[in-house]
Amino acid sequence: MAKSDAGGVGDMASGKSRFEDIYDRPDPRAYFARLAPLEYEIPHHAQRVFRQVAAERTALDDGRPGRPVVLDVCCSYGINAALLNHRMTLAELYERYTSDAARAMSTAELTAWDKRFYAERRRPDAVPVYGLDVAARAVRYAQEVGLLDAAFSDDLEKEPPGPRLRQALADIGLITLTGGGSYVTERTFAALMEGARRPVWVSAFVLRTVPYEAVARTLAEHGLHTVADTSRTYPQRLFTDEREQRFAIGAARSLGLEPAGREAAGRFHCVHYESRPSAP
Ligand SMILES: C[S@@+](CC[C@H](N)C(=O)[O-])C[C@H]1O[C@@H](n2cnc3c(N)ncnc32)[C@H](O)[C@@H]1O
Repeated sequence: MAKSDAGGVGDMASGKSRFEDIYDRPDPRAYFARLAPLEYEIPHHAQRVFRQVAAERTALDDGRPGRPVVLDVCCSYGINAALLNHRMTLAELYERYTSDAARAMSTAELTAWDKRFYAERRRPDAVPVYGLDVAARAVRYAQEVGLLDAAFSDDLEKEPPGPRLRQALADIGLITLTGGGSYVTERTFAALMEGARRPVWVSAFVLRTVPYEAVARTLAEHGLHTVADTSRTYPQRLFTDEREQRFAIGAARSLGLEPAGREAAGRFHCVHYESRPSAP
């Protein structure tokens, strides 16, 4: 796999469409219904990578009692936790949450349906997962249906972690991220790393139109070396409209990236970054 040191310069202007209206609902139906036509697919690509990294991190003896916990940042309704710890695909989740059966249910009925579903699909090698997302209702749902072992809605862009999250950070061994690179910055990562007590690895899929340099620098201050997988990019979703595509093409060019075959072909693309301690 071709790799390079994480880099990138430039600025993510505010040209990306926002989806705040679907982020904090009592359950995930609106999220999947809205993102299905945009073919939002980055958690699907992350699934294989996160499973591999989580297994490697779990196997590492860091001299601490208990298994290291995965913290999924910008976890929303627990999608990465669902794909990491259960026998299922993102396509199945789209089908489930946009089905006639799901549409006919109350949130309480959907919650009960999901609890059974996730329990039945639980993998024997499931790892503990905490979720962090400012969308308090979304993380509550994820915890209630059994996807998250603990859920936090602290906004680390604005304030330091509260006492509950501070305590939980001592358990973290791996931080994962999809779809959140435009929302969280080095401020969030600095707060997480300051609270960490075990060696923490970071595995992040970030739009290539969003510079990751400042995050990589912050992680380096905490002893982590970041590499970008330059062998490929991962499609995230279709653009909402021509305006968003123009913005993304411009953002790619301003970072010295070639949009042909990627943004110019109609989709946002991500780079996968992996950060691990420089010294054992
Ligand atoms: C595109 S969704 C990604 C959800 C999920 N990771 C996925 O890939 O399907 C972005 C998420 O970032 C969350 N978010 C926005 N600002 C945040 C912040 N400051 N801290 C944590 N999460 C934030 C939103 O609430 C939303 O759930």
